[in-house]
Amino acid sequence: MIGGLEDVLQEVRESVELPLTEPELFEDLGIEPPSGVLLHGAPGTGKTLIAKAIASQAKATFIRMSGSDLVQKFVGEGSRLVKDIFQLARDKSPSILFIDEIDAVGSMRTYDGTSGSAEVNRTMLQLLAEMDGFDPKGNVKVVAATNRIDLLDPALLRPGRFDRSIEIPLPDERGRIEILKIHTRKMKLADDVDFEKLAKTMSGRSGAEISVIVKEAGIFVLRRRGQQITMADFLKAYDKVVNVQAPTIPQAMFV
Ligand SMILES: Nc1ncnc2c1ncn2[C@@H]1O[C@H](COP(=O)(O)OP(=O)(O)OP(=O)(O)O)[C@@H](O)[C@H]1O
Ligand SMILES: [Mg+2]
Repeated sequence: MIGGLEDVLQEVRESVELPLTEPELFEDLGIEPPSGVLLHGAPGTGKTLIAKAIASQAKATFIRMSGSDLVQKFVGEGSRLVKDIFQLARDKSPSILFIDEIDAVGSMRTYDGTSGSAEVNRTMLQLLAEMDGFDPKGNVKVVAATNRIDLLDPALLRPGRFDRSIEIPLPDERGRIEILKIHTRKMKLADDVDFEKLAKTMSGRSGAEISVIVKEAGIFVLRRRGQQITMADFLKAYDKVVNVQAPTIPQAMFV
């Protein structure tokens, strides 16, 4: 269950699913669907969640992997995997290939002369080659996600590759209320719990942080053997989580 992000979900469906299920819509209008779609945004904003939501509803084969799966020890192993996975996607088409945390292989090529970085570069080159071999009208769609778009090799973002990028924003107040509702749906809440007030307090927090705060509030109740989770539990949990998770990465790095 995803809180907020309706616009984003629709945008992702339009650019990923629609070209597979109703290609004639694009043909009639004379527009080309994107070759690849990149989801980017701060950590914990729901990128992986969106991929799972698409997977559960897609009328296409859904193949999901993480960029870190492609970082292999032996020379040629990573690029071999890329080749195989794209072949699988073609064999099982119509299909959606989702590469989560693509920055693990798609960071700016930092060739430092070690065999490890040479291997990652080689994997990346194979990825670029596979994407170039695609017909955007074809029936394989590639979606990738990252929270470090600033580190991605610009070559990945060129036309014919990940030429559509969709930003996954931090939740707004309404989104935060929905996320709070989703994560507390099985909890016993005291009458004084006010989601609107909580959502205001949690301004600037991600969905992942909100879910951690909710869990922490539950632990406070457990500890005092309480029956219900009160507003004070949530506020205490908020203070605890926010003070532990002092930002270590400047916000500017997510732009
Ligand atoms: N919009 C949301 N609605 C409900 N829960 C959310 C939402 N966004 C994040 N969460 C919660 O946070 C967790 C982490 O989200 P997710 O893994 O999708 O983040 P991400 O954007 O992929 O982060 P990263 O960039 O670190 O990979 C989810 O499992 C979920 O519990
Ligand atoms: Mg993720």
